[in-house]
Amino acid sequence: MALVVLLLVGLLLTGGAYALFTQTSSAKAETASSSDIEEGQKLFVANCATCHGLSGEGSKAGPGLIGVGAAAVDFQVGTGRMPLQANGPQARAKEPQFNDEQTAQLAAYVASLGPGPAIPEEENLDGSKGDPAAGGSLFRANCAMCHNVVGAGGALTRGKYAPNLEDVSDKHIYEAMQTGPQNMPIFNDANLTPDDKRDVIAYVNEVTETPSPGGFKLGSLGPVAEGLFIWFFGLSAVIGLTVWLSSRSK
Ligand code: HEC
Ligand code: HEC
Repeated sequence: MALVVLLLVGLLLTGGAYALFTQTSSAKAETASSSDIEEGQKLFVANCATCHGLSGEGSKAGPGLIGVGAAAVDFQVGTGRMPLQANGPQARAKEPQFNDEQTAQLAAYVASLGPGPAIPEEENLDGSKGDPAAGGSLFRANCAMCHNVVGAGGALTRGKYAPNLEDVSDKHIYEAMQTGPQNMPIFNDANLTPDDKRDVIAYVNEVTETPSPGGFKLGSLGPVAEGLFIWFFGLSAVIGLTVWLSSRSK
């Protein structure tokens, strides 16, 4: 009998110590205030839980969000992709439904579910400190096959597409690399260090803001678009002129 009691007491003690330990360590992991997390949870239950589950565990209608981190929420909600409204091959960017404060609360709540990438620091976003030339070679090696060399975007298979990067904020460019939304691969800090990411941002800003003094740049889609333009408009102008000239000589 004494042995059984001793065993029970031992189990109780280790269980209690374990619970205490995990509680303190998870409390340490949270940097956001608990009121943000509470508000975020309310918003989450009202707007996201139908698809992502009551505590972010996921359902048939949406993936689990445990461990996606604050960065994924800030990107998805901040670009208006979430809450998802229409089913389609890809969630589209639209007018954001939540303001900055609510987005931060939602991000804090999802981050409290499990560790994941945090929202990038201001320091890593300052494109003016980045090197656009180095960013250009990183962009051509890692991004251009989907987004085109100057970030003009391009079509992918099954109705999906890589968007034009012209009006995307620095923070969202960083978060897109960090979290890899939908068909985009994740570029974690081992692939592209925070400094590399800043160079990429500097490059994207540089090329999307460069004016085109030579005239209409045809979406910078390259020689195929330019060739087609000349083929249709240049050639029809030449044919039209020939027809006009020969009709006058009669
Ligand atoms: C109508 C269903 C629906 C609603 C409502 C919805 N989502 Fe989603 N969500 C999805 C689906 C589906 C995906 C997966 C998209 C994909 O990868 O193709 C997704 C993806 C995400 C991701 C990316 C996960 C990752 O792995 O990076 C985040 C973050 C997210 N949702 C957050 C939210 C938040 C926050 C809300 C509420 C404001 C919300 N969602 C509301 C369906 C929904
Ligand atoms: C395999 C193709 C692919 C590669 C490679 C790729 N992306 Fe993407 N990217 C996508 C797709 C698809 C989306 C749209 C995802 C969505 O709508 O959720 C996207 C979205 C983005 C967005 C968000 C745009 C917006 O309108 O909000 C940014 C920014 C971005 N990518 C930057 C990059 C950068 C920088 C790189 C290289 C480091 C890169 N991408 C590499 C396919 C790709």
